Amino acid sequence: MAIIQTVDLTKKFGNFTAVDHLNLSIEEGEIFGLLGPNGAGKTTTLLMLVTVIKPTKGTAYVDGYDITREPDKARRLIGMAFQDPKLMWVVTPWDVLNWHAKVCGLSSLERKKRVKWALTELGLWENRHKSVHTFSGGMRKRVEIAKILIQRPKIAIVDEPTTQIDIVGKHRIWNMIRTLRDEGSTIILATNELYEADLLSDRVAIMHKGKLLVCDSPKKLKDSIVGGDLIEVILEKEAPKTLIEELEKIDKIVEVLVLKPNHLRIYLNRAEEILPQITEFFIKTHLPIQSIRMSEPSLDDVFAHYTGLTIEEAEKR
Ligand SMILES: Nc1ncnc2c1ncn2[C@@H]1O[C@H](COP(=O)(O)OP(=O)(O)O)[C@@H](O)[C@H]1O
Ligand SMILES: [Mg+2]
Repeated sequence: MAIIQTVDLTKKFGNFTAVDHLNLSIEEGEIFGLLGPNGAGKTTTLLMLVTVIKPTKGTAYVDGYDITREPDKARRLIGMAFQDPKLMWVVTPWDVLNWHAKVCGLSSLERKKRVKWALTELGLWENRHKSVHTFSGGMRKRVEIAKILIQRPKIAIVDEPTTQIDIVGKHRIWNMIRTLRDEGSTIILATNELYEADLLSDRVAIMHKGKLLVCDSPKKLKDSIVGGDLIEVILEKEAPKTLIEELEKIDKIVEVLVLKPNHLRIYLNRAEEILPQITEFFIKTHLPIQSIRMSEPSLDDVFAHYTGLTIEEAEKR
């Protein structure tokens, strides 16, 4: 049985539906990515799972416990690193984490060991006695993540763990998340970063406007979009509508997305075989090509396939 099962999980704020009949099933031991643009409803979903906010409709089961009927039992299994950590301003990381470890019921010996380990791994050891009010956003975020590394909960939720964190820090956190999983935690990772979701997740659920678009392994998601390959063409001038129709008539071309008037993304099968044909097509139509690039689809393409938008575009709406 799934360790987390959401059943038509729904949250409304007034008339606005932030999470809309979400049905997710998360397996024990996996890293489960919840991917979507800002405002997709990821944080709201997670806050319902940890019983910080109540669903308007539907529910979720956490290791069999119904979050609406037995919230205390469900909450005990979960540790969450919040997107916007509300740390006390006067305290030091050392104090925050030792206190957290104590609340989690760790022995004094184990506490010392784990707090030191987490602070060192996250590059905070030197600053352990500094007050967090002197910390940058990224440093505060690392203190927040250290909490769940110390806690090692059965289910660990990390909400946008690497925003405001530099690339070295990101790699550290990604490794920590993997370690946590290897030690037995099931991980839910909410992110709007495609690369992060792709890199870490065993399976990814893509959300948009509160709804689930698709859920599968990154590989299967990428393979499943029509035309496994893609070619991006940037033209010197705008592409006329008729041109797109002509292009779509070429055998093996499955779909042409117009990202910008002069920027086309062509989904197709066996791109390497028909690349010459496509180049020739543009030469014949006297539309000079600025650049042409062949690539494997990414999770962004999966998102674009289902919404017609890139994640960045979806965030602006
Ligand atoms: N407490 C709240 N009151 C009103 N609207 C909210 C509240 N919390 C979130 N929202 C709205 O719900 C939507 C989803 O937000 P959120 O779950 O934070 O998305 P994400 O984490 O995917 O960026 C957003 O449009 C947000 O403005
Ligand atoms: Mg969020």
